[in-house]
Amino acid sequence: MSAPLQVKQVNVPWVRSQKGHQALTMLTAYDYPTAALLDETGIDMLLVGDSLATVVYGEPNTLSVTMEDMLRHTRAVARGAKRAMVIGDMPFLSYQVSSEQAVLNAGRFLKEAQAQAVKLEGGIEIAPTIQAITRAGIPVVAHIGLTPQSIHALGNYRMHGKSDTERRYLLESAQAVCESGAFAVVLECVEESLTAEITRAVQIPTIGIGSGTGCDGQVLVTPDLLGLTAGRVPKFVEPLAELREPMSEAIRRYISRTQDRYAKAAPRGPDLSH
Ligand code: KIV
Repeated sequence: MSAPLQVKQVNVPWVRSQKGHQALTMLTAYDYPTAALLDETGIDMLLVGDSLATVVYGEPNTLSVTMEDMLRHTRAVARGAKRAMVIGDMPFLSYQVSSEQAVLNAGRFLKEAQAQAVKLEGGIEIAPTIQAITRAGIPVVAHIGLTPQSIHALGNYRMHGKSDTERRYLLESAQAVCESGAFAVVLECVEESLTAEITRAVQIPTIGIGSGTGCDGQVLVTPDLLGLTAGRVPKFVEPLAELREPMSEAIRRYISRTQDRYAKAAPRGPDLSH
């Protein structure tokens, strides 16, 4: 195992070099100020996830975000990131139709939004697409296990890798995406014992979410981690703050301060006393 490289800006060789060394950290970001704040903390990677749909736009699932939405938010995040690698998540139907379309759309994340890499969902069946994108010089993070863009086919958000068939599929998928040129793979809601097996089997870093601690790193949805999510938070998230409370307290104080000061400072409306 070679020693980890030192870098000013996180890049693909550095991420690869971290396997077996310090755990990689990834969080989602969707806007400039959050990206700048996360970057200052020393986070390794910022994922502009298609969770944008649910987290920012309040949609029921991730299917509705478009390339234009993702590019706009990725560009904002890239402006805020100095050290962290920015990864743009390819939205539903931007890479599934043909490899040619996938390469063109992946390229837009680098050309128009200043991302350093893209992420896309799918296992062994998407490996040829990953190969086409990486051959164009575009770094790819793969994503297997629970793949939320397939929610209607999957039926629900559940753990993956319980049956022998699923375990075989996920292990083969991890190997296939690695051989196709992906430089890291997200394992979402994968059984912990299988996560450890996959992490040992592939040469690229595995980044887990809801998959236990047997990965080379972790990714979480930032508002879930910070206690900012309005709705349901997945059970595996252990929030490290409850920011909704101090935020709503500050807003309540703003409302009463405004009502208090402005009512006293000036009479409202035209003078109708004549
Ligand atoms: O869209 C997203 O935020 C993701 C992460 C949860 C891995 O894909």
